[in-house]
Amino acid sequence: MTPLLETRGLSKTFGGLKAVQKVDLHIGANRIVSVIGPNGAGKTTFFNCLSGIYRPDGGAILLDGQDITGRAPHQVCKLGLARTFQNIRLFPEMSVLENVLVAQFQHRSISPLPLLLRSKRFRAQEKQSRDEALGFLEFVGLAHLAEEMSGSLAYGLQRRLEIARALATQPRLLLLDEPAAGMNPQETTEMVQLISRLRDRGLAILLIEHHMKVVMTISDEILVLDHGVSIAHGAPEKVRNDPQVIKAYLGDEVPTGE
Ligand SMILES: Nc1ncnc2c1ncn2[C@@H]1O[C@H](COP(=O)(O)OP(=O)(O)O)[C@@H](O)[C@H]1O
Ligand SMILES: [Mg+2]
Repeated sequence: MTPLLETRGLSKTFGGLKAVQKVDLHIGANRIVSVIGPNGAGKTTFFNCLSGIYRPDGGAILLDGQDITGRAPHQVCKLGLARTFQNIRLFPEMSVLENVLVAQFQHRSISPLPLLLRSKRFRAQEKQSRDEALGFLEFVGLAHLAEEMSGSLAYGLQRRLEIARALATQPRLLLLDEPAAGMNPQETTEMVQLISRLRDRGLAILLIEHHMKVVMTISDEILVLDHGVSIAHGAPEKVRNDPQVIKAYLGDEVPTGE
């Protein structure tokens, strides 16, 4: 069966630095795959290549068997791959609801004519968009804050809003870059639950996460990067006990799952 996402020998260099080196990965529909590795291992660069922010200088990216290597971020997004960022990217002066509406609007390429004329069709479309956006907010637990200014939300809630924005583009594969970074244990537990519910919704998830407990609990598979190289890939149990993985983490963080 064609995997939802496949990378073949994906590589990216910055000057002399090989940030991602010949990484092969398959992600099946509805799977949760985590990417771990020490700081600077190339995790975010890998995401940036997949989502079209960086053009890889070697290898290929296939989405549903279609070669998307070198496509622009908005094209990749239209084909069903959405992401959130390690550093939150919202419109802080806009309301929570407006943030989701903007993401939806960018995605849909709605004709501006009905909007300009404020026609009946536009009003119907507007209502439908609002209802859908509220549905995404409901899903991430933010519907009651729809009219708040997004910049005023607590950090953990802004991370949830980022996920609602990504959902508004109707992805099949969602890339989450450290969604639980800076969260307290309670918020982290809630984030794990949210990621599980995203999978229940039919999405595949590619996750970068430092909380080893989160990674070990939630992942179907784990890919370990070290200096841009894939040094291990497989089920959490297998990866956790891999001597090379333990070595790569020495002096950093040993992935014990505790
Ligand atoms: N735009 C860039 N220009 C130059 N070097 C970069 C750039 N982005 C990342 N790097 C370098 O590539 C390596 C991998 O970085 P990154 O992908 O952010 O790692 P991780 O997310 O695993 O911490 C690091 O050495 C980093 O300094
Ligand atoms: Mg990173």
